[in-house]
Amino acid sequence: MTTPSSQNKMRVRKAVFPAAGLGTRFLPATKALPKEMLPLVDKPIIQYGVEEALAAGCDQIIIITGRGKSAIEDHFDVSYELEKMLEERGKTDLLAKVRSISDMIHVAYVRQKEALGLGHAVLMAKELVGDEPFAVMLADDVIDAEKPCLKQMIEVFDETQSSVIATQVVEGPGISSYGVIDAAPVEGNFAGKLWDIRNMVEKPKFADAPSNKAIIGRYILTPAIFEELERTPKGSGGELQLTDGMNLLLQREKIYGYVFDGKRHDAGDKLGFLKATVEYALKREDLGGPFREWLKGLGV
Ligand code: G1P
Repeated sequence: MTTPSSQNKMRVRKAVFPAAGLGTRFLPATKALPKEMLPLVDKPIIQYGVEEALAAGCDQIIIITGRGKSAIEDHFDVSYELEKMLEERGKTDLLAKVRSISDMIHVAYVRQKEALGLGHAVLMAKELVGDEPFAVMLADDVIDAEKPCLKQMIEVFDETQSSVIATQVVEGPGISSYGVIDAAPVEGNFAGKLWDIRNMVEKPKFADAPSNKAIIGRYILTPAIFEELERTPKGSGGELQLTDGMNLLLQREKIYGYVFDGKRHDAGDKLGFLKATVEYALKREDLGGPFREWLKGLGV
């Protein structure tokens, strides 16, 4: 691993959230409601990701939106009517919560006119990202971790100055729902958790999967990815896949796979969403106790 001198070190400041997908796994709820706005207890799932990016030190959020996604923009915008009403009624706690969302950060939006794939969505951020490393965060993947997952990954990036992808072991045929890496272990500070990627495949058949290490929706990428995505042919599902673009990037640069500490929930899947809801509700100070009691009473 090379460690460039601190003066020349690149920093990750921008986080891109592709949010233009159609959310078909969650129909009919997502017919008019963006899947990123589905509430996990009382916060939309995208807000968990945005808070993680801020906690990891990013200060610019870029959301790639599409048709029917204006609720996301409204969510992160100021709501004068709501604030005025809460103020008049003396609901100071709620007012603080509502304000903290719009105060959180400057959010920039780019519109992806057609949902042509994750790689295409990331490419939409090219102008706003410019010539610096950046994070990509998939809101569906909600990660509960003591140290935010993206923060763990930025620590790896700060040392390696190379692209880093979150990975997790998935046993059995379920691996076919993911991008899968083929990688060799790396010794050193992150030994046991860091992998040197040799190849990656988007949604392989179980029999063809190069390993049991799945790509999870947190990436730190160098800006060279944009050039690669521009020349990436359509892949799995007829879409421009980020995994394929990263595979081309591998020919020029190192990419590491990082096995993060924490629990990932697939909140874009109905069962995954239900599990996440139960776990997050149980952890809540205000709800956990009575919710636990009620669950016990179900006798399931
Ligand atoms: C996307 C990526 C895939 C990755 C997954 C993680 O797939 O294309 O490589 O493993 O996110 O959640 P999607 O779930 O959007 O089909």
